Amino acid sequence: MKFTKASPLKGEITIPGDKSISHRSVMFGSIAKGTTEISHFLSGADCLSTISCFQSMGVSIDIKGDSVIVEGKGLRGLKKPVDTLDCGNSGTTTRLISGILAAQNFDVTLTGDDSIQKRPMKRIMEPLSLMGAQITSIKDNGCAPLSISGKKLHGIHYTSQVASAQIKSSILLAGLYAEGETTVTEPYISRNHSEIMLKYFGADVKTEGTTACIAPPKELYGNKIKVPGDISSAAFFIAAGLMIPGSEILIRNTGINPTRDGILSVCRDMGANITLLNENTDSGEPTADILVKYSSLHGTTIEGSIIPRLIDELPMIAAMACFAEGETVIKDAAELKVKESNRIEVMVQNLTAMGADVTETEDGMIIRGGRPLHGVVIDSKLDHRIAMTFAVTGLCAEGETEILGADCVNISYPGFYKDLEKLGH
Ligand code: S3P
Repeated sequence: MKFTKASPLKGEITIPGDKSISHRSVMFGSIAKGTTEISHFLSGADCLSTISCFQSMGVSIDIKGDSVIVEGKGLRGLKKPVDTLDCGNSGTTTRLISGILAAQNFDVTLTGDDSIQKRPMKRIMEPLSLMGAQITSIKDNGCAPLSISGKKLHGIHYTSQVASAQIKSSILLAGLYAEGETTVTEPYISRNHSEIMLKYFGADVKTEGTTACIAPPKELYGNKIKVPGDISSAAFFIAAGLMIPGSEILIRNTGINPTRDGILSVCRDMGANITLLNENTDSGEPTADILVKYSSLHGTTIEGSIIPRLIDELPMIAAMACFAEGETVIKDAAELKVKESNRIEVMVQNLTAMGADVTETEDGMIIRGGRPLHGVVIDSKLDHRIAMTFAVTGLCAEGETEILGADCVNISYPGFYKDLEKLGH
């Protein structure tokens, strides 16, 4: 896929459903009693992996466009799958489902693609084991494939070293089945979609500061879920609107949960003209339309508690910083190294190749903006967010930018290139 300098992007766009919320709606719907009707579901490859795992465990899940109906089996109704569960490219599927599987009355093996088999799983294996789970890395390298033998679990009070919603959610899901209360404390608050949706499904979840606590319910109860647009996908259009002179984009019905809205704060710190309209709430999740107008940006520092609120947006923010006046410092973001690719290394290499002035650091990068960029061939490393980041960057660079492995956007945003085209590129 090739990109060249774009004229202004103008118009309206509706972003596909939030990936984190779509995963959870299927998972929690599957172990709830009764029917869960999901609208604006993200039919990206990652969420389809979650659906196929639960279908393999006997759950009836019907997909029609972006509507999904899950006939929940109740907390103890899952069946042993015949084969190994395939989580594809999805860290959320692998880590969250492990919390559920740890407490079933059967054994299971789960795995995924090459990328998933390199991603750290000790971070969930350790707390789940403390709860009484039997979970091992088959190759003994702390990664998938994982073998899980369902056991009777007990609650724990766990302090996580990493602010990660996948770790927190995996433990809370195991906590649904454990004897006694389970609490998770993290250094900074990570996305709280599990807490919101578990409550919405009738669970007793309490939160205070960076601690979430769950008491085992008798059952969860299915419900209607309207998935908001994914702010992590909207991020590419927010950045494109700010980076391409003359642009004005209205991004409809996007999730603006305060644990996810770091990109809005950072863009505003950089001088962006962003307005929120029609603020609302869907299934417990705050939403808004986001109006973005081209702005002349300046550098900023991004560190500490804001990092988990924009972790998936950092590649796009790093590229955007190349077009801002002065220095942008990203720190406390070592987690970027263990995403679908090593996103610090991949961003620094590719931005440098395009002519940017970027320095890699232990836990982030320093970008000195203002240099014009030129097109190059970008290896996406099959990382969806890298492919989308450089598609947008290519619209602001001289010459031609070619993205290799461009189809990997199907993981989180199958219609991405079409939507970009629709806005005038
Ligand atoms: C996610 C949590 C984040 C995020 C990922 C989705 C989730 O990962 O990067 O894309 O749905 O819980 P971590 O929990 O590893 O930070």
